[in-house]
Amino acid sequence: MVKFTVIGGCGSSDLAKRIAKKLKATYIKTEKKVFPDGESKITIKQIPKKSIVIVVQSTYPPVDSNLLELLSIVSKVRKFSSKVYAIIPYMGYARQDREFLGGEIITIGVVGKLLRASGVKKVVTVDIHSKLALKELKIPSENISAIEGLVKYFKKMKMKDPLVVSPDLGGQERAKKFASLLKTDFIVLKKHRDRKTGKVKILSGKVEVKNRDLIIVDDMISTGGSIVKATQFLKKQKCRRIFVACTHTLLVNDAAKNIKDAGVSQIIGTNTIPGDSAKVDVSKVICDALK
Ligand code: R5P
Repeated sequence: MVKFTVIGGCGSSDLAKRIAKKLKATYIKTEKKVFPDGESKITIKQIPKKSIVIVVQSTYPPVDSNLLELLSIVSKVRKFSSKVYAIIPYMGYARQDREFLGGEIITIGVVGKLLRASGVKKVVTVDIHSKLALKELKIPSENISAIEGLVKYFKKMKMKDPLVVSPDLGGQERAKKFASLLKTDFIVLKKHRDRKTGKVKILSGKVEVKNRDLIIVDDMISTGGSIVKATQFLKKQKCRRIFVACTHTLLVNDAAKNIKDAGVSQIIGTNTIPGDSAKVDVSKVICDALK
C-alpha cells in the first residue's frame, strides 16, 4: 500500500485535511507569518517520514504569496522524499496560457518552471482553465473534473425545465458535459472581452430561454463581469431563475454582490477555493486521482 503524507498550505488546509482523512495519511500543518514588509515566513510543523508527500495549495489571491508558499513547502520537503506531488486545486495564472497581445508573457509556463525547479514530480489540478495551460506546465499532470459533483448538487435542487448556458465559446465542452449529465440541453453565448480593458460584452442574438430555469456553467468567476453580462442578457429574454455552477469562485471585490444584484439566485462552487459558495467537496475526486 502506498504511504502518503499530506501537507496543507494555508490556502487549502481544510481541503488538505479531508484528503488526508480519505487517504488515511498523516496530516502535517503549516504556518505562515507575514512580516510588515510583506515577506512571509513559512514553517512546516512536522518533518514528513519516508512517503509520497502531497502538498495541497490553491493559488487564489494573494496569488503570488500562495504560490511562493507552495514552492517553499515543496523545496523543504523534497529533502525528505523523492516523490513530492503538488495538488493545486485552483491553478492561478492558467488564463495566461498564450500571447494574446504582442510582448505578453505566458506566465503559466513560468509557474511550471518554478514547480519543476522546486522539486514537484507531479501536479494534480481541478478544471484548469485550458488544456494549453496544462501543457505549458511541462510536468506530469492530471486535470480532474468537478462537474459530476456540481451536477449531483443541482440534481437535488428543484429546477423547472433546466437549461445549461455557457457564457462563452471556450466553455462549450464544459456546458455540454454538464447538460448531458443533468439530462438536459444547453446553449452557448457569444462573449467578447476587450483584451486591453478586460470589459466583457455579450454578442448573441435572441435565445430560447422563456420560462426555464437556467444554470450558467463556467470554470471560474473572478470579477464576475462575465456572469453579470450573461445574466443581464438572459434576464431580458424572460427566463425564470438563474443559477451559476462554477468550479472556482474567486469572487474578487464585489463580484458576489454584483452577480446577485444582476439577478442570480445562487452561486454554487467547490472547495478548491474556500468561502460561502464552496458547496461541493472535491476531496474524493482528488483522492481517486492519487490512488
Ligand atoms: C474565461 O474564459 C473564463 O472561463 C471565465 O469566464 C472568466 O475568466 C471569468 O472572469 P470574470 O469573472 O472576471 O469575468
